[in-house]
Amino acid sequence: MVNAAVVFAVLVAAIWVAESEYIEYNTTQRIVPDKINVHLVPHSHDDVGWLKTVDQYYVGANNSIRGACVQNVLDSVISSLLEDKNRKFIYVEMAFFQRWWRQQSKAMKIKVKELVNSGQLEFINGGMCMHDEATPHYIDLIDQTTLGHQFIKEEFGKVPRVGWQIDPFGHSAVQAYLLGAELGFDSLFFARIDYQDRAKRLKEKTLEVIWQGCKSLGSSSQIFTGIFPRHYDPPDGFTFEINDVSPPIQDDILLFDYNVQERVNDFVYAALAQANVTKTNHMMWTMGTDFRYQYANSWFRQMDKFIHYVNQDGRVNALYSTPSIYTDAKYAANEYWPLKVGDFFPYADHPNAYWTGYFTSRPGLKGYVRVMSSYYQAARQLEYFKGRNETGPNTDALADALAIAQHHDAVSGTERQHVASDYALRLSLGYEEAERLVASALASLVNQRLSSHRMNPVKDFQQCPLLNISYCPPSETTLVNGKILVIVVYNPLAWKREDVIRIPVSSFAGS
Ligand SMILES: *[C@@H]1O[C@H](CO)[C@@H](O)[C@H](O)[C@H]1NC(C)=O
Ligand SMILES: *[C@@H]1O[C@H](CO)[C@@H](O)[C@H](O)[C@H]1NC(C)=O
Ligand SMILES: *[C@@H]1O[C@H](CO)[C@@H](O)[C@H](O)[C@H]1NC(C)=O
Ligand SMILES: *[C@@H]1O[C@H](CO)[C@@H](O)[C@H](O)[C@H]1NC(C)=O
Ligand SMILES: *[C@@H]1O[C@H](CO)[C@@H](O)[C@H](O)[C@H]1NC(C)=O
Repeated sequence: MVNAAVVFAVLVAAIWVAESEYIEYNTTQRIVPDKINVHLVPHSHDDVGWLKTVDQYYVGANNSIRGACVQNVLDSVISSLLEDKNRKFIYVEMAFFQRWWRQQSKAMKIKVKELVNSGQLEFINGGMCMHDEATPHYIDLIDQTTLGHQFIKEEFGKVPRVGWQIDPFGHSAVQAYLLGAELGFDSLFFARIDYQDRAKRLKEKTLEVIWQGCKSLGSSSQIFTGIFPRHYDPPDGFTFEINDVSPPIQDDILLFDYNVQERVNDFVYAALAQANVTKTNHMMWTMGTDFRYQYANSWFRQMDKFIHYVNQDGRVNALYSTPSIYTDAKYAANEYWPLKVGDFFPYADHPNAYWTGYFTSRPGLKGYVRVMSSYYQAARQLEYFKGRNETGPNTDALADALAIAQHHDAVSGTERQHVASDYALRLSLGYEEAERLVASALASLVNQRLSSHRMNPVKDFQQCPLLNISYCPPSETTLVNGKILVIVVYNPLAWKREDVIRIPVSSFAGS
């Protein structure tokens, strides 16, 4: 009897100990002025096409090419954010976010809007893609950014504050001026600069600068710009995708390999190392990289623990943050930042490795993007004159195709062949629809003139995109049937032009 009672008591005690092992992690976000503050910025870098097409990446198709499914990223991030109000995440590429958003229920949309309003989910950069800065036309950069920002404004009533061009292969002063200062961004961040420039900046603590994009506009073209010390991934040992090799924090005393103090030491050491190359006591850790957070909890679980134990330790302070919070902290520090003028081109990531071949690679796609871009500029003017029709032919598909074609693995030419073909297909489908819009817009504009001259209205116009090879069936055949040929030439530029226009006609049709 006595023995049994003892066994029973021991059992109860064991169960009680096991239950007491639930740990509530304190992830309260706060900045401590007199400590090193490590801003953990959870992010996923989701290329709008590269090794796979944009849709293959979104749905997780063709995973034998690359295991990547952006739908998983967004699904799992949202549920992780809902679990703890201190967690934060930034999302960047609106081409993906739009695909996800239109598939969500009303109830989910309400929850996500709350996450955005509370600042847990923040849209950063906010264009349709993270555009290249060397090969696009600046008009296309403005347009693709506007398209993404319009979506954010309409759905969430927000305007992104921060530029996040983390992956493009070098950076243009046009970015600093037009897409930084003029757009009203407070700051801009990226990873890729020349390796020698980076080495020098690391030594001199000048990775963070005031970048002046335009000589003649001076200070009104400036933006606070942060260059990451290495790349856009975390310091070594702090990546937590399910198949990453960084050691997790093991803090359950009933399991083997308890390692809280070791991992806290690792964290503090990595923070001190970065403090050596960073001005002020605020540093950013970019917690993520390409297509990460497909199972977001594996990251957030570890970051919860690090914030909890590192802050208990007290040598440095860790917090969930965003580039906006980081920028505000840098601004409040009232520090002097060196001035940078001009481009960050060309980009070499190590000796003799210049990323300049892409300036001219895939010239066919580059040319097609340019031609489609100028056609779009003309088409949307005509769309405006005629009056926009949401259900009839419009320029939306062309705008969308052009936007994703500005991605830093699209017009740049660094994507695989089947992905290049996908961009071209989207452009040609967008063009077909825009062409129908242009035809009816021209007809309605011209018919106003014709009727004032008491002439019969024209039903439709056909366009001749192959005038370069004198191919234009309408002008070559209409005259044969004794009909009148009306030729309209539309100048979309804001100034007068003088050009010779050649129209092929069939030789036997007479005058
Ligand atoms: C959590 O951490 C914050 C900041 O250090 C502190 O103010 C707060 O008291 C802590 N909360 C709990 C429940 O320990
Ligand atoms: C992608 O997957 C589809 C369907 O499995 C297949 O038909 C196609 O060939 C794949 N594309 C590439 C580029 O591997
Ligand atoms: C920081 O820099 C100092 C001086 O160069 C060096 O002694 C120290 O080891 C560095 N600390 C870390 C953690 O890298
Ligand atoms: C818009 O386009 C649709 C489809 O072509 C057409 O039926 C409708 O009449 C158009 N609406 C206006 C206002 O032009
Ligand atoms: C004419 O233009 C079309 C479309 O831009 C192009 O595909 C074709 O190669 C051009 N032909 C010649 C002979 O330049």
